[in-house]
Amino acid sequence: MVRFSAFLTLFALSGHVFCQSSTADQYFAQESPIAKANLLANIGPNGSKAQGSNSGIVVASPSKSNPDYFYTWTRDTSVVFAAIIDQFTLGLDNSLRSQIDNFVGSQARIQQVSNPSGSITTGGLGEPKFNVDETAFTGAWGRPQRDGPALRATAMITWGNFLLGENNSTYVQNTLWPIIQRDLDYVVRAKLEPDNVRFPAQGWSYLLNLTSRFDLWEEVSSSSFFTTAVQHRSLRQGAALAAKLGQTSSTYSTQADNVLCFLQSYWNTAGYMTANTGGGRSGKDANTVLASIHTFDAAAGCDAVTFQPCSDRALSNLLNYVSAFRSIYGINSGIPANQGVATGRYPEDSYMGGNPWYLATLAVSEQLEDALIVWKQQGSLQITDTSLAFFQLFSSSVSTGTYAASTSTFTTLTAAIKNYADSFVGVVAKFTPANGGLAEQYDRNNGNPVSAVDLTWSYAATLTAIDARNGVVPASWGAKGLTVPAQCNRNTGGGGGGGADTVSVTFNIFGENIFLTGSVDQLQNWSPDNAIPLNADNYPTWSVTVNLPANTGIEYKYIRKFNGAITWEADPNDMLTTPASGSFTENDTWR
Ligand SMILES: *[C@@H]1O[C@H](CO)[C@@H](O)[C@H](O)[C@H]1NC(C)=O
Ligand SMILES: *[C@@H]1O[C@H](CO)[C@@H](O)[C@H](O)[C@H]1NC(C)=O
Ligand SMILES: *[C@@H]1O[C@H](CO)[C@@H](O)[C@H](O)[C@H]1NC(C)=O
Ligand SMILES: *[C@@H]1O[C@H](CO)[C@@H](O)[C@H](O)[C@H]1NC(C)=O
Ligand SMILES: *[C@@H]1O[C@H](CO)[C@@H](O)[C@H](O)[C@H]1NC(C)=O
Repeated sequence: MVRFSAFLTLFALSGHVFCQSSTADQYFAQESPIAKANLLANIGPNGSKAQGSNSGIVVASPSKSNPDYFYTWTRDTSVVFAAIIDQFTLGLDNSLRSQIDNFVGSQARIQQVSNPSGSITTGGLGEPKFNVDETAFTGAWGRPQRDGPALRATAMITWGNFLLGENNSTYVQNTLWPIIQRDLDYVVRAKLEPDNVRFPAQGWSYLLNLTSRFDLWEEVSSSSFFTTAVQHRSLRQGAALAAKLGQTSSTYSTQADNVLCFLQSYWNTAGYMTANTGGGRSGKDANTVLASIHTFDAAAGCDAVTFQPCSDRALSNLLNYVSAFRSIYGINSGIPANQGVATGRYPEDSYMGGNPWYLATLAVSEQLEDALIVWKQQGSLQITDTSLAFFQLFSSSVSTGTYAASTSTFTTLTAAIKNYADSFVGVVAKFTPANGGLAEQYDRNNGNPVSAVDLTWSYAATLTAIDARNGVVPASWGAKGLTVPAQCNRNTGGGGGGGADTVSVTFNIFGENIFLTGSVDQLQNWSPDNAIPLNADNYPTWSVTVNLPANTGIEYKYIRKFNGAITWEADPNDMLTTPASGSFTENDTWR
């Protein structure tokens, strides 16, 4: 086998841009089958490096010590299967169906496993990792991690949409939907710990909670951009699938609006998404680039609200992220600003020496390829004040404006950006060992593989980077035309609530001895004892009018009190978002 670094010597010596595409061509041609084989080797029950794992279980890496990654993570598994599902459903590899079936089976089982984060109904879906025999991992860990259920739902929804196209609605309805629904319900409610809050309040502080706890790197406990972005995507496409299946979708779409609002709050006027609300770091983090590629929807064009790869925000973010690594890694020294460098998780990283990661560097090339796909598709590219610095990497004289595909500016820029994308592949090629194996990291000073060998996610990242470079467009998930609600809900639902504007809401329902309680002070904060009695003045309609905070997402339920016994309405909670002013009436049916 040829050492991949041979190709790159050319680039390193010449410093010219023109050999990048042949380097990337050759590297990907060789690496593609290796990545596929090594990825499948890490999946049970047959994978040669996954011995002892159950059917459909993805081991993060076969490495059993320093570090021991011989476990299955919900996040890694879902990212890996999202790639496999794309390969199968887009017709790139017809051999993968039984793997996907095994994945579905394994996740249906693992959802049921009680673990230190809780049971299936009390937050256990947020547990980050399990033993490969599907038993709970009970050691200390950064838990919960809320991206896992969202990513798993997204992978399954993509699969479900494909099966509906095969007229296989029975399987989707009976087998997939229950798994998806559990994850989506977790995403909208994310049972909080300690689990004494029956259902959390809506509002900004609730969203902080919903999106919070450990980030994808399992280090920072706060809200995280990646988690929020994938939660948004899962709810949006979950609502669409629910509607197709005749299931209730409004809870998911309401919460998707709230989460989309919250997503905007990570933007930093310095021109990048701050990856985490906590953690005390710069906030420049591969988290954001990964969010962009994992929520790519070509139908949404260069939309900045959903942080599409070619949006001005995502390009400015990419520039800031990449720049953060130029001076800190020895292997990046002397590389010009319009050429790719090794990138890692975040510049402050010190884990295992704080090195570049293969999947992070590949993600940059994938974001750029996704951007190129859309620019070609729409026949133009736009430069705004926000993205100007990014485009100036390639032409110092460009200015803001929209450039049609027929212009020389478009041709020059897209060619340079193509080359720039390939130069990140070139970095990965240069530091891939002769056998094509991809570890987690490569050394910041000499490029040698570091940390866990054969990281399954490194291989999935290779496959998706190859697909993007080949112009493969993943299925749309409904990002097109979304707008951020006019007024984002910054009221603290459960907390004080005092001072804010209120609107008058009348609740009507048929029944007997009905009371009302919910997620805000004005609805007695889920207290059955203090629940508000409805009057029967218009019997059989029971009714009450309450002043509630304006512009606020509120969850509530009716309860029935009879002879000292309390009956709650069935799950899920009812939800409403109050308007900015005025009054309205909510007509409900007991469930
Ligand atoms: C695993 O191996 C068994 C026995 O050879 C085979 O029947 C099955 O299809 C394999 N599963 C996958 C997912 O390849
Ligand atoms: C699904 O059903 C529709 C309507 O009966 C039919 O036109 C279509 O060919 C079917 N698709 C497949 C993949 O069987
Ligand atoms: C539906 O898809 C499932 C999962 O791959 C498969 O087991 C089943 O045979 C399919 N059913 C039909 C009717 O195609
Ligand atoms: C947010 O989480 C904290 C800690 O778990 C909890 O005390 C607080 O009540 C939660 N706030 C809301 C609005 O749910
Ligand atoms: C509830 O019913 C009243 C009276 O029938 C009607 O005026 C009102 O628009 C309804 N509200 C909603 C939200 O459907």
